[in-house]
Amino acid sequence: MIHDLDSFMRRHEHLTGDLGMDTLHEEFHVLLQTLRAASSEQAADALLALITHTRDHFAHEDTQMIEGGYPIRDCHIQEHAEVLASLVEVHERLCQGDHRALPRLVHALEDWFPGHVQHLDSALAQWLVQRRHKAQPIMLRRHAATLGVARDMPISPQAAQTQSSCAHEVPLLAPRL
Ligand SMILES: [Fe+2]
Ligand SMILES: [Fe+2]
Repeated sequence: MIHDLDSFMRRHEHLTGDLGMDTLHEEFHVLLQTLRAASSEQAADALLALITHTRDHFAHEDTQMIEGGYPIRDCHIQEHAEVLASLVEVHERLCQGDHRALPRLVHALEDWFPGHVQHLDSALAQWLVQRRHKAQPIMLRRHAATLGVARDMPISPQAAQTQSSCAHEVPLLAPRL
């Protein structure tokens, strides 16, 4: 039973059709919210937990792209590396007592994550499902009207546009911090 409409909507918006990736994304979101809510004393540990998870998350996707010969992997892998570098940089600053970059990092991650999932990760998930099952993932669309929300919950991110998915802005978080 869903008690939280935001989490209900988010769960559907972030689905790629690949269970492993979807689980990692849900965990990423939870760790990011934990970081957002962390006190000054808790922030470094919360960010370290996010870094540890993100390292595994990105390595999981990078490995699948490299080992499978995914044709548009370079921009995706590069984006992972840049985001991870930003996380590590801000963690180093936190450990030195400098908390100024943390709020901007949290905002930047919250802005970046949905687009990354909808463009790059969903394209990868479609490609993986095609390879595994020689079929397209079936993405159901549900309407939130019954919950009083006047918008669709777009489960399918139109990830078939794999060639153009590299064109969306790469979040160079580190230089902006
Ligand atoms: Fe991902
Ligand atoms: Fe990714």
